[in-house]
Amino acid sequence: MRTIKWGIIGAGRIASTFASALNSLENVELTAIASRNQDRAEEFARKFKIKKAYGSYEELAKDPEVDVVYIATPHSEHKDNSALCIQHRKAVLCEKPFTINRHEAEYLISLAKEHKVFLMEAMWTKFLPVNAIVKSWIAEKKIGEVRHIRASFGYYSEFDRSSRIYNPDTAGGALLDVGIYPISYVMYLLDELPEHVISSAVIGRSNVDEQNVISLRFKNGVLADLSSAISVDIGSDAVIIGDKGKIVVPEFWKADKADRYDAQGNLVETYSLPHPKNGYEYEAKEVNHCLREGKTESSIHPLQSTLEIMTIMDQIRQEWGLQYPQEKERGMKQ
Ligand SMILES: NC(=O)c1ccc[n+]([C@@H]2O[C@H](COP(=O)([O-])OP(=O)(O)OC[C@H]3O[C@@H](n4cnc5c(N)ncnc54)[C@H](OP(=O)(O)O)[C@@H]3O)[C@@H](O)[C@H]2O)c1
Repeated sequence: MRTIKWGIIGAGRIASTFASALNSLENVELTAIASRNQDRAEEFARKFKIKKAYGSYEELAKDPEVDVVYIATPHSEHKDNSALCIQHRKAVLCEKPFTINRHEAEYLISLAKEHKVFLMEAMWTKFLPVNAIVKSWIAEKKIGEVRHIRASFGYYSEFDRSSRIYNPDTAGGALLDVGIYPISYVMYLLDELPEHVISSAVIGRSNVDEQNVISLRFKNGVLADLSSAISVDIGSDAVIIGDKGKIVVPEFWKADKADRYDAQGNLVETYSLPHPKNGYEYEAKEVNHCLREGKTESSIHPLQSTLEIMTIMDQIRQEWGLQYPQEKERGMKQ
């Protein structure tokens, strides 16, 4: 089997987690790391046994040995970092949110089409086997007709305007950081676009949303009650409620277990599968598979899904009047 050679851009927190996942896979080589700082790149390379450490992103993008680049930088940087790699004909797996708005997402997608390279948003939740089981339980009507979904993702992070989470310059805020998970999850489970979206947010001290609630209504009569936060720990469970039972997915965004209950509230089925490493190996495997097959996008998380999610998040931010500084500067609508 062909060995897929990976590069990583940005030597931060999630890059470390993903590097561990890559190093646990067979027929994969983590070939290069790039940081804005040479020392940081070398330290990361030592830790994860990577043979090449670059002090600039350009050098990695130009490395002919690298097949695919994982972009692990703040939201505001995704467009330029991904574009740099695509222009050098690298396949790209870009962290969520794909970009800060639909306009940027469309640009990257057209660039990837022009250069005929693979492109995917790293929405790893959609590749977890437990979530595939939850989707199959719904399709098999094991809880009857789905009527209502509750899902949240929120944590407490002390206010720090300079952190990527609170900083508007890095496109911080709860919606783009974690609100994207419940939205993506519901659309993944239902395979539908919502017909109606309403929401409310607390815009905080640094002018990003510190918490929000979002209601989605779907054509088939399903309501989704979603929330996210960076300033309060609201948990991250999902409950999918049908007319003949419900499914509870603890920490759905990194799910390794799901419980199914009947209409009387009795536990009738549990599916549990511990992650071989940390759960990020599943999305990496999908990318490896697509590259070996010569595909330019994933059928599990296609670019159209990314565009649909970006559109909903733009619409929500528009309702709140939340524009990022770079959008204001360019006189852009979201
Ligand atoms: N899938 C998941 O479960 C998950 C979890 C956490 C985060 N994420 C996503 O992953 C991305 C990175 O998050 P993270 O928590 O890893 O962030 P982080 O720890 O702050 O790391 C981001 C890295 O990006 C680089 N960078 C480039 N431009 C930057 C800038 N203007 N300001 C700050 N750093 C910059 C820095 O690396 P160098 O200085 O080395 O170049 C930095 O270490 C985000 O899109 C986030 O939403 C995903």
